[in-house]
Amino acid sequence: EAASKDGYDHFMLKEIYEQPDVIKKSLDNKFPHGKLNLMDQSFSKEELLSIETIYFTACGTAYHAAEVGMRAMEKLLHKKCQSEIASELKYYQPFIDEKTLLIVVSQSGETGDTLAAMREAKEKGAKILAVTNVVGSSIAREADKVIYCNAGPEISVASTKAYTTQLISLYALAIDFAQKLNCISDQDVEKYIKELYTLPSKVQELLDHREKYKDLAEKIKGAKSIFYLGRGIDYLSAKEGALKLKEISYINAVAFQSGELKHGSIALLEDGLPVVCIISQENLVDKSISNVKEVKARGAYALAIAQKNFKNVQEVSDDTIFIPETLDIFTPVLSVLPQQLLAYETSLALGNDVDKPRNLAKSVTVE
Ligand code: G6P
Repeated sequence: EAASKDGYDHFMLKEIYEQPDVIKKSLDNKFPHGKLNLMDQSFSKEELLSIETIYFTACGTAYHAAEVGMRAMEKLLHKKCQSEIASELKYYQPFIDEKTLLIVVSQSGETGDTLAAMREAKEKGAKILAVTNVVGSSIAREADKVIYCNAGPEISVASTKAYTTQLISLYALAIDFAQKLNCISDQDVEKYIKELYTLPSKVQELLDHREKYKDLAEKIKGAKSIFYLGRGIDYLSAKEGALKLKEISYINAVAFQSGELKHGSIALLEDGLPVVCIISQENLVDKSISNVKEVKARGAYALAIAQKNFKNVQEVSDDTIFIPETLDIFTPVLSVLPQQLLAYETSLALGNDVDKPRNLAKSVTVE
């Protein structure tokens, strides 16, 4: 087992560090010779024209990727899309019919809730496209189309590289649909592809500065609860960061939409409560800075994860981790990295079993 960790102390850390490589691999698979070509992994223009509703479903980390994919799809297609947790989807089945496309995201391709949601939708005539990491898995076999994440085997229960490669796969899919339906220009397609290819080195840049996370973990490890805040797509990234921390540190981590905090949850703020603030969107930076001030005024400890041009964030936060710049829809690929490392170091500082957290399984095959 030690050998397969490649010298890393844990599979989770090894998998975090594999991300630059697997993101590149995932991109090369979808953009051979730098051009988008999903071949038979996606639907034809004619098939896409027959679809009225696009739904996304998944569980856990895969659901957080699915939600980002849903927003990217909406932005590129200028069309309302929907997402629902797989174990809940059956309660909303009236909206699913033969004009529906269900996009199912699952690392293992074996999650019981996801499989059940997919089977019910299929029975109602929906088309199914799976984004999965495991070739030949049940979900891959039963879907009409399959896009593979190319992350390689993920051993750690807490998912890291599967999440970032699910994002890459979903971005490729959104660009593919938008291109086939003439929703974006060739120049925009070029721009998106060029930017996607900058992500492996930007991820590497973040991984090259690991020192600070030990100190940050020391600051938060004694907390009973930790808040994660974000607006728009940053909220989706905050949800994934909170889940990561919860899974392996056993600290109650909860994500809120920054603007919603004042409508109730702000009552929970108290001296020293750690608040992780994700601030990556140019158009939301002023509002997000106000939120940092708001939590600081109540004595909270504010740790910001901010895009590197937003220097003002540093002045209002207790600690700031800067992430490289990228296009707004791609920021979750970068903002999740510090959150993965923070969760890892906190779990370690608390003496937990990082790779095999209590009560959790890598793949839950029962509903
Ligand atoms: C389990 C794992 C999670 C994972 C979820 C969905 O609950 O502990 O880490 O995100 O299943 O798994 P899937 O294989 O469908 O992505």
